[in-house]
Amino acid sequence: MANVFTAAQIQEIENAPLADALKRVTDQFPGETVLSSSLGQEDQVLTEVIATNKLPVRIFTLDTGRLFYEHYDLLEKTNARYRTNIEVYFPEAADVEAYVKEKGVNGFYESVENRKQCCFIRKVKPLNRALQGAKVWITGLRSEQSDNRKEMKMIEWDEDRKLYKFNPLIHWSYEQMIDYIKEKNIPYNPLHDKGFISIGCAPCTRAIERGEDPRAGRWWWEVSHKECGLHVHQ
Ligand code: ADX
Ligand code: SF4
Repeated sequence: MANVFTAAQIQEIENAPLADALKRVTDQFPGETVLSSSLGQEDQVLTEVIATNKLPVRIFTLDTGRLFYEHYDLLEKTNARYRTNIEVYFPEAADVEAYVKEKGVNGFYESVENRKQCCFIRKVKPLNRALQGAKVWITGLRSEQSDNRKEMKMIEWDEDRKLYKFNPLIHWSYEQMIDYIKEKNIPYNPLHDKGFISIGCAPCTRAIERGEDPRAGRWWWEVSHKECGLHVHQ
């Protein structure tokens, strides 16, 4: 199998049902396809499909050190349910120590620059380490989530990381995802039922009110693009 997707293959993948699309990708890149899971609802859907179809995908999560307790319970529950061993990547201790010494333990509230630096140390750097050796990076991105994500395609070439980024749920609506979770009884973070739609680190996430933007609860004190740098659209 070739090491690239042709335009025709991309079209087939885009038109295929979810499990079939994932299978086509892993058939082409067996052992080189990874899922980054925040254990959010989107990622739980993908884990269910990967695990129940026994697809050769390495699954990892980034533990920033500032996550909600519920994240850890869900990690255990998910591993037990799917007999998986989701890999956990941590930031470099020296990076976090230097940051905290200079900016303070909650220095991210003080400026967008401080916040982005914290996200870089705790998320982006560990992500880049976790992606080493991968040819396809699966994410749970959905275009509905934000303006930045509306422009994204299901399969995109990530020039910086030199891999394909595969967003199988990009066209899924929120309702479609919730229906799928209910139908398959997929485990999910109980915070989602308390108004937390998009969940990141505990100090940087709050519940949202009905009608608010789904990402309004992320870095709520900022008027920014509400991205941490994992998904910069090229
Ligand atoms: S973020 O960029 O704002 O943090 P978001 O929480 O919307 O991202 O999640 C979008 C996708 O980014 C997830 O489906 C997942 O693929 C990846 N992602 C986000 N946070 C993590 C994490 N902590 N560990 C692994 N993947 C993550
Ligand atoms: Fe740091 Fe907040 Fe970014 Fe988490 S979301 S890495 S705590 S700034």
